[in-house]
Amino acid sequence: MTATTSLKPIQRRLIGNGAALIFVAGTIGFGFLFFLLGEIRLWPFPGTISLQLPGSVKAWRMAHLEGVINGLILWLTALLLPLLPFSQVASRRVANGMIAVGWLFTLASLIDALFPNSRGLAMGGPWTNSLAFLMFYVGVLIVMAVMAIIAWKTLVAKAPDNAND
Ligand code: HEM
Repeated sequence: MTATTSLKPIQRRLIGNGAALIFVAGTIGFGFLFFLLGEIRLWPFPGTISLQLPGSVKAWRMAHLEGVINGLILWLTALLLPLLPFSQVASRRVANGMIAVGWLFTLASLIDALFPNSRGLAMGGPWTNSLAFLMFYVGVLIVMAVMAIIAWKTLVAKAPDNAND
């Protein structure tokens, strides 16, 4: 079995989670739409429900696009994985780390759209703000560590070109 074929289950996990994130981004898009309309209306179905969803344009836009961007990043990671000078175990850790980051950032952004004063910029305030902060905090630590390791391994501790063969 070559290194590329043994990476396939990890790549599929990345692709599946990326698709799920972009699907969630689409679902959040409906929240964004109903927030902007100030009512729930689904043409061609008859009737409207008059309901102003909470949040702000900024919060809904960010939650919507975090899902899209993080989903695309997972797809990119899946494509790049065979090029990285990592063992299978390290590749799996990188993939799991990026999957965790994608969900943490997307769901933490959604908290700001759904709950008041919950942008998660600093610890404290409502528990929803602290939760969003902690989710961003963990996500930032993981993504910075993963990017530093990839940069180090590819730029400084250069592996031979056939390291993954
Ligand atoms: C999953 C694929 C989707 C992608 C890649 C996508 C991408 C985008 C982008 C790039 C924007 C512009 C952000 C801005 O500057 O405001 C946007 C806005 C928006 N999207 Fe999506 N979107 C997707 C799905 C959906 C779905 C399924 C809905 C639900 C109806 C939706 C509803 C909206 C709304 C309401 C806006 C704001 C439009 C406005 O500000 O005038 N999106 N989307």
